[in-house]
Amino acid sequence: MNIVVGGAQWGDEGKGKLIDILSQKADITVRYQGGNNAGHTVVVGKTQYVFHLIPSAVLHKSKTCVIGNGVVIDPQALLAELEQLRAQKIVVTPQRLKIAANAHVIMPYHRVLDGLREKVRKNRIGTTGRGIGPCYADKVTRCGIRMVDLLNPRILRLKLEDNLREKNETFRLVYGHKPFHFSEIYKEYLQYGQRLKPFICDTALYLNQAIDRKKTILFEGAQGTFLDIDFGTYPYVTSSNSICAGACAGAGISPVKIHKSISAVKAYTTRVGEGPFPTEFSRELEEEIRSKGKEFGATTGRPRRCGWFDSVLVRYAAMLNGSTELAIMKLDVLDDLKMIKVCTGYQYKGKTLKEFPFDLETFCNVEPIYVTLPGWQTPISGIRSYGKLPVNARRYIEYLEKIIGVKVKYISIGSRRDEIIVR
Ligand code: IMO
Ligand code: MG
Repeated sequence: MNIVVGGAQWGDEGKGKLIDILSQKADITVRYQGGNNAGHTVVVGKTQYVFHLIPSAVLHKSKTCVIGNGVVIDPQALLAELEQLRAQKIVVTPQRLKIAANAHVIMPYHRVLDGLREKVRKNRIGTTGRGIGPCYADKVTRCGIRMVDLLNPRILRLKLEDNLREKNETFRLVYGHKPFHFSEIYKEYLQYGQRLKPFICDTALYLNQAIDRKKTILFEGAQGTFLDIDFGTYPYVTSSNSICAGACAGAGISPVKIHKSISAVKAYTTRVGEGPFPTEFSRELEEEIRSKGKEFGATTGRPRRCGWFDSVLVRYAAMLNGSTELAIMKLDVLDDLKMIKVCTGYQYKGKTLKEFPFDLETFCNVEPIYVTLPGWQTPISGIRSYGKLPVNARRYIEYLEKIIGVKVKYISIGSRRDEIIVR
């Protein structure tokens, strides 16, 4: 059974925790898009692990992890992550981590350009500043540098020289930025190549052969459906296909080899960075939920914007992802609320909209229509079976299930690994 897990909101749905649990049953876990813009937190006992590029499944010693071709890799960040894991006593050998030779590399000029573009843009996206957009842009422009190129000094020289010739001129003319030095970057990246060489291989071949040998694969999506480059709230999105279909192109797996699509949602909604967010809370409630839910970015530390659950969005996401199961995360964060609202449609210029509008301009100006449900006002983190949840918590879950039209299989009721209910 090969499963894709993805986010059905704007990222940070708690995918890291879900992957940590599901990966115990899979042989291999694969990241297929995004880069170190992602931040996945897993709490085991008293130890907290934060992952940006490496699948959190690496915590299970017998499991293999893959960073697929659809991911953009900052080698410096990857090595730092490996180092951090080693400090936390997790040793990652080339047997346990495979890196796609054809994954694109984030270069220093990508990171700098990400920051400069944000500075001069009228409509800031609020990117993570990791160079994600510029790196994907180079991939599509066909001037990108791939992991395999770091192993070939002649090719790296050629590509880097070509890139710098054009980029240094742009940096100077458009941004008044000093040029990047060829030899510094060349040396630095050749070194990264040598350090990562044992991990680099043809991961599509590795994965397909594993499937032939009846191994099970878990695909770990980063970001969320509404950050998807095609279907998200463009341009306030990331630069990859974060919907589950991204797993095919981002890992080299045929769609017929994927059997299940699990979508993670928070019991409410959050968003980091700019862009429309119709169900955003008023200031007071936002502060309450943010502090209860520890809603600060795992990558940038930015406070996350918080709001009510938007079922219009999630229903659309369930369609795009072909969701077979839902995982509702962080339900316990709503424990104290007297009333809980769910957005079921939008009001726009006197009309009622039941679907996610395709025009961002519309989406920026809609008024949410809410249904209000009673809260449960009891702590639920200690509960381990669905039947023992307070009736109003079950009512909330079943209401979401009904309007989204997908069965809720997992309910997370705390940050610890065991704080989960499986139905
Ligand atoms: P995980 O995997 C939440 C957001 C950024 C910004 C937009 C574009 O932890 O769910 P980028 O740096 O990708 O060009 O930024 O996307 N963003 C995320 N928000 N969770 C993430 O990942 C995100 N990755 C990117 O805040 O609004
Ligand atoms: Mg995040």
